[in-house]
Amino acid sequence: MVPTITIKEDLCIKCGMCIQDCPCGLYNQETEGSVPEVHNLAICISCGHCSAICPPGAIIHSGFPQDYLHQINEKNQPSNEEVLELIRARRSIRVFRDKPVERQQIERIIDAARLAPTGHNMQATQYIVIENKKILNEMAQATTNQMSWTVNMVRNPLIKPLVVMIAGKQYDSIVESVPFMEKMIADFKNGKDNVLFNAPVVILFHADEKTIFGDISVQLAVQNATLMTHSLGLGGFYSGLVLMACQRDKTLKQMIGLPRNHKAYGCLVIGYPKYEFKKWIERNKPEVSWL
Ligand SMILES: Cc1cc2nc3c(=O)[nH]c(=O)nc-3n(C[C@H](O)[C@H](O)[C@H](O)COP(=O)(O)O)c2cc1C
Repeated sequence: MVPTITIKEDLCIKCGMCIQDCPCGLYNQETEGSVPEVHNLAICISCGHCSAICPPGAIIHSGFPQDYLHQINEKNQPSNEEVLELIRARRSIRVFRDKPVERQQIERIIDAARLAPTGHNMQATQYIVIENKKILNEMAQATTNQMSWTVNMVRNPLIKPLVVMIAGKQYDSIVESVPFMEKMIADFKNGKDNVLFNAPVVILFHADEKTIFGDISVQLAVQNATLMTHSLGLGGFYSGLVLMACQRDKTLKQMIGLPRNHKAYGCLVIGYPKYEFKKWIERNKPEVSWL
């Protein structure tokens, strides 16, 4: 829907910030020092930059009524050292306490996720929160079934050319992960859940497949959610394996109510950590090209 934008002339201080900041270039000034004019509203992506950056609040965008604009609390901004410390301290958690996660905490995590940037400001990411133990077990089972299918495909010499064709450049990494998957499958059969690690919650991030950059936008939302999870004293991990099952297994897709034409792009497994990391570790030195 095309929004409307009104500039309150009596409030405008003609600072020109809206003109410089609008990513769509909607604002211009007829003459220097005049109140800006708005053109080409049809291409507005309703990011809200104009309303948020205007110092006196002279820009009234139909997508952002007064209660959509909040004061940024400068005193609450973490220092760069605090941001880095949070990033360092976050680790994948796979050992959980036998304790459910409160709805309020999950809502806080999703609140952080929804504030992540999205391609073309589409904000199309949706969430499925799975707390039901039976469904969680089904998810873990379906994930193991998918792994068995992959292992059988890779281990069958007769269909190797087909597998190579389907897997493309990832073929070698898939082959490398086969022993790992075989162990997971065997463990699962013996009653050890190393797919979900008996976690009480899974959050599945999904979007309409037609959404531009929908998959990438989800990954950013997941990272926001991950950091919020940690800061709430919760923990968890990204499950690529469960995600794969949610993308491939039709029965599972139905069971979790994934809408038609939607695709699961991200999967976070969450719970209360049993143990706490006291040390952070170095990662590989980054390979960087400076031009
Ligand atoms: C795309 C992606 C997929 C992952 N899939 C799984 C998974 O299926 N199971 C799992 O236990 N961990 C999974 N992880 C977690 C990684 O193993 C973990 O992030 C990595 O070993 C680094 O450890 P850290 O998260 O503690 O820093 C995944 C992580 C990413 C980013």
